[in-house]
Amino acid sequence: MNPSAGQALAQLSATLAARGPVVLPALLLCDFGHLAREVERLESAGAAGLHLDVMDGRFVPQLTYGLVVVEAVRRAAKGPLEVHLMVEQPESCIEHYAEAGADILTVHLEGLSDPRLTLQTISSLGPQAHLAISPATPVERVEPYLDVCDGVLVMSVEPGFGGQRFNPVALEKLAHLAALRKERGGSFKLAVDGGISTETIGPVAAAGAELIVAGSAVIRSPDYTQAIAQLEQIARGVT
Ligand code: DX5
Ligand code: ZN
Repeated sequence: MNPSAGQALAQLSATLAARGPVVLPALLLCDFGHLAREVERLESAGAAGLHLDVMDGRFVPQLTYGLVVVEAVRRAAKGPLEVHLMVEQPESCIEHYAEAGADILTVHLEGLSDPRLTLQTISSLGPQAHLAISPATPVERVEPYLDVCDGVLVMSVEPGFGGQRFNPVALEKLAHLAALRKERGGSFKLAVDGGISTETIGPVAAAGAELIVAGSAVIRSPDYTQAIAQLEQIARGVT
């Protein structure tokens, strides 16, 4: 975890409280030949944080990048980094990703043998611990762990690729978690990832999403500033 992570996260929470939902651009489809420049462009375009998709070619079919790239992004970025681990046995590498500079470490419930222990370990290492669920996983399965996670990431596409179509099953899950949080008074954040566009961001924000990951909607736009501003404006208009 980076030394200024506490500050970066405090800033993210303050933005959420003051301005409502934020967009976290996913780097998956960015120009990796000019990674530092992409990070700089996204941050100066107003990104409240960046989302990094680590895929191992086993938990999901695609292989993306690992520690070396996360460290490079950490060096280039000023703001908070969310590392979304789509790997088998994430328990074996969380310590390394925490050290590499993850401020939020997101692990998939489907890949964990002891979710409670893994989430507690992440927290003890420093990063915020977020729990992700794929579209086929019932939302009730995260309920036993809500007291030990700082956020729940509801996947609105099958993990593995950018540019897929939004699956509306995420809306029910977000609404369910938002209601549960209100009822039980929890403090976990609600996040969503996959298929976010100007059409889908309104509904996810209305359902309670606060950290909204957007890959292609930002990266495939010629103007990152305009893309982020437009998405956040729509999200904030409905909350
Ligand atoms: C999918 C990844 C997403 C992806 C989002 O497995 O977790 O973060 O990059 O890309 P879009 O927004 O294009 O669906
Ligand atoms: Zn992701």
